[in-house]
Amino acid sequence: MTLWYTSALYLSMAIIFSSFYIITKQTLFNYTDNILSSHASKVVEIVKKQNIGMHQYLADQGFLQEFSAIPGMLVVIMDSSGQTISGTVGIDPKNKLFKKLFNLALDTKKPFFNDQDINGSTMRFLVSPIEKNDKFNGVVLIAHPIDIIQMSLNRLLTIMGAVFLGLSILTILGGYFLANIGMQPVAALSNKLKKIEMENLEEQIINSHTGDEIEELTKTFNELLDRLREALKREHQFIVNVTHELKTPLAILQSSVELILSKKRSAKEYKKVFSEMLIDIKKASIMFNKILELAWSKAENVKVQGRVFDFSEFIAELQDVAKKMSLSKDITISGDITGGVKLFGEKDKLARAILNIIDNAIKFTPKHGYIRITLHNKNNVIVKVQDNGIGITREDLPYIFEPFYRGVTLYTNKGSGLGLAITQGIIKAHNGIVNVNSKMGKGTTVIVTLPTLKNPA
Ligand SMILES: Nc1ncnc2c1ncn2[C@@H]1O[C@H](COP(=O)(O)OP(=O)(O)OP(=O)(O)O)[C@@H](O)[C@H]1O
Ligand SMILES: [Mg+2]
Repeated sequence: MTLWYTSALYLSMAIIFSSFYIITKQTLFNYTDNILSSHASKVVEIVKKQNIGMHQYLADQGFLQEFSAIPGMLVVIMDSSGQTISGTVGIDPKNKLFKKLFNLALDTKKPFFNDQDINGSTMRFLVSPIEKNDKFNGVVLIAHPIDIIQMSLNRLLTIMGAVFLGLSILTILGGYFLANIGMQPVAALSNKLKKIEMENLEEQIINSHTGDEIEELTKTFNELLDRLREALKREHQFIVNVTHELKTPLAILQSSVELILSKKRSAKEYKKVFSEMLIDIKKASIMFNKILELAWSKAENVKVQGRVFDFSEFIAELQDVAKKMSLSKDITISGDITGGVKLFGEKDKLARAILNIIDNAIKFTPKHGYIRITLHNKNNVIVKVQDNGIGITREDLPYIFEPFYRGVTLYTNKGSGLGLAITQGIIKAHNGIVNVNSKMGKGTTVIVTLPTLKNPA
């Protein structure tokens, strides 16, 4: 990047400098040419006004003295045969150069500029043929030394070269220093990031307080570290929870086996202990299944390998299951089900997801309560499970989808806190969402929104 900036600056400087030189040179030469042209037109005018035979008369005229006063200026007037008949002071009428220019004028018949060396100095000539009544009548040569311009231009070129060189060095050094100073916080950031590992994720990158993009970048990195830390903490907590949940039934199983092996027992005693052990084995097995389901739903790029099925029938079946599940609590299960709704998905997984919601509704609703299970199909397929149970506290609401989170309820909650986490994972895998509305003491409504099938045929 710095290299690009320096090169661009360098190139712009080179363009500006060379343009300046070219324009100055052009202007100076144009200026000389304009002066020569204006003087030449004056002389040609005067010569034209004179009688052709009166050239000699011109020599005595004072106007040529005028040009003699201009340092370096040279005027030569030649007749139609190429004889020098007049000129400024000090010219050599026999100079071969005048004859040469005269011959060129004979060919061109038009005024032209020509640079020539005279006595070691370069002169710019304006050669103007004189025509009177369409007849070639002679030539006016008017010249001015251009060495001085060339010398000044050379000097200008040297000065500009030196300034350019100086500025180039400054640009390169300045660019290098600026890049170094500018990149320092980035280098510090990069160094810090290199040192960050799982063990020191709690460290923060020190804010540069530069008020620029670097500060913004530092903030972003710190936020990223925060998120990583959170994710890692959750991951760690998850492992702790799983271990804890499995440890208890396994410990009970172990002590039961130890106890039974400690001495000889009757068949009745064996039966009793084995029955108790079976309960714990079932508990552990349920726990394993839940963890597997959670793992499936949380797996990245989880692919739903489902099929199209009648979702209305499916919800009606779940309503029946709910009725059976809630029998002991005498809870009324009701709700409208829009018929003919088709859906693409994994039936087993969706059944698990919705049964988890129904299970909660039954669990957290007192005896003789009611639960409404409805299905609607508007822009999306919407399943609602509404209960008039104990409701969820404001404090619990943000966390109920987290694995192992169990709300602080007055009810004896025998769950593991995995139900809603599994539900959310499954619904997400089916491109849907789960929302919860709840009021303490009034009840809870869980809303599952799934995308409508595009071509239900
Ligand atoms: N319908 C509901 N009414 C009141 N509280 C609810 C309801 N549904 C969920 N909750 C609260 O959300 C928490 C998390 O629910 P989730 O289903 O994930 O776990 P769980 O029911 O405690 O255990 P699991 O489902 O694994 O048996 C519950 O412990 C409870 O506090
Ligand atoms: Mg539950």
